[in-house]
Amino acid sequence: MPNETLTITDNRTGKTYTVPVYKDSIRALDLRQIKVAADDFGLLSYDPAFMNTAACQSAVTFLDGDRGILRYRGYPIEQLAERCTFLEVAYLLLNGELPDADQLEEWTSEITHHTMIHENLKKLMEGFHYDAHPMGILMSTVAALSTFYPEARNIHDPEIRKRQIARLIGKMPTLAAYAYRHSLGLPYVYPDNDLGYTKNFMNMLWKRTEPKFRANPVLARALEVLFILHADHEQNCSTSTMRAVGSSYADPYATTAAAIAALSGPLHGGANEEVLRMLDEIGSKARVPAYIEQIKAGHGKLMGFGHRVYKNYDPRARIIKQVANEVFEVTGRNPKLDIALELERIALEDDFFIRRKLYPNVDFYSGIIYQAMGFTPDVFTVLFGIPRTVGWLAQWQEMLQDSEQKIARPRQLYTGSAERSLRAEELEFEAAVSTAA
Ligand code: CMC
Repeated sequence: MPNETLTITDNRTGKTYTVPVYKDSIRALDLRQIKVAADDFGLLSYDPAFMNTAACQSAVTFLDGDRGILRYRGYPIEQLAERCTFLEVAYLLLNGELPDADQLEEWTSEITHHTMIHENLKKLMEGFHYDAHPMGILMSTVAALSTFYPEARNIHDPEIRKRQIARLIGKMPTLAAYAYRHSLGLPYVYPDNDLGYTKNFMNMLWKRTEPKFRANPVLARALEVLFILHADHEQNCSTSTMRAVGSSYADPYATTAAAIAALSGPLHGGANEEVLRMLDEIGSKARVPAYIEQIKAGHGKLMGFGHRVYKNYDPRARIIKQVANEVFEVTGRNPKLDIALELERIALEDDFFIRRKLYPNVDFYSGIIYQAMGFTPDVFTVLFGIPRTVGWLAQWQEMLQDSEQKIARPRQLYTGSAERSLRAEELEFEAAVSTAA
């Protein structure tokens, strides 16, 4: 369209520039032509924390934060959560289409085939303290996978890439379950390839002496839905890390370990653990108003509230509330739910939260469900990391195939000293040191 342009007048020089507008954005590089003098570097865009910068084009996930919409490859999250299995959604995210029956069978067998981990990895895990955080164990063991599969370095070979993707998706629940059992001092349980993805995960987590673990189907389905909801969320902090680290052509294990590190922070995936700590600290419904006043006075944040993109209710939080009811029918109601509901009710009526468009996000209720299912809070973020691995890998693959992408390397606005010289006494000291050497 001829009028899809933007005209910029530089008031420093009076010059006017016309730059193309593409998908409601301009290319930051088009600003470079705007100069005061010919030997100028040209205008930069300054955007700390990427508040208004698209770093890529992506066909994986669509998110409309104002309208509370989330779609994977065009399909609404509500439909996927209701009708699909996690492995179907994983296939969709990675390949762009849902699998047909044959493709699903092949895909399931491929993932199942990769659930075992090398015995040496178990030895590596044994080196961790009993109270090592499971996220730290997961991050380290995923990084260690890089040493087991040196072929992974060939990231431009589609077949090799495909194999590492299947390995990572297959091994993630095994590593997570081993990390969990390590913290409890329990022996590791090998994968049971007769079971589906989430049931096998539950088997590796909770099997004791029974010959065959039988997962409760309601809880297995709940876990499946939670995995679907967490599978991708476009350019969030850990996915951007995955893309940035992957852009240096590091192998997918090192790259995924970096994404896990990003996810572990309390402002991102680590928030689900923090929500439970916060609910413990509040302790009772009666103490909610005082806690909210404390937050409004600037003492801390309401964990599980707010989102960079959603400025309306997070659609995942709505689905999670339904899942919570189904889980509580089996496990009994988690008493923390009453505190959480009261917190949500009061916060959503309060001008402080309304003006800032702060709503419960995916992490607000997920921890309450996980706790009811028997997980300890330190493993909540690991439960986020297993399904998000799929999103990371889909975005990593897309990045590698995108001819516009290069190594991620932002610019800076330098704020330090202008050039200066060492003082005479510093010059003398340096001279003495180099003579002595
Ligand atoms: N409690 C109280 N105030 C908040 C909160 C909160 N949870 N979140 C944002 N605000 C305030 C913030 O202080 C700021 O106020 P003011 O305008 O007076 O300075 C305003 O709201 C805008 O916030 P922001 O910090 O500019 O928003 P952001 O987009 O940079 O941060 C966020 C997004 C998710 C990091 C933030 O909302 C937050 O820290 N929330 C709590 C942690 C959390 O639940 N994280 C999980 C996010 S969803 C899943 C995931 O990504 O893993």
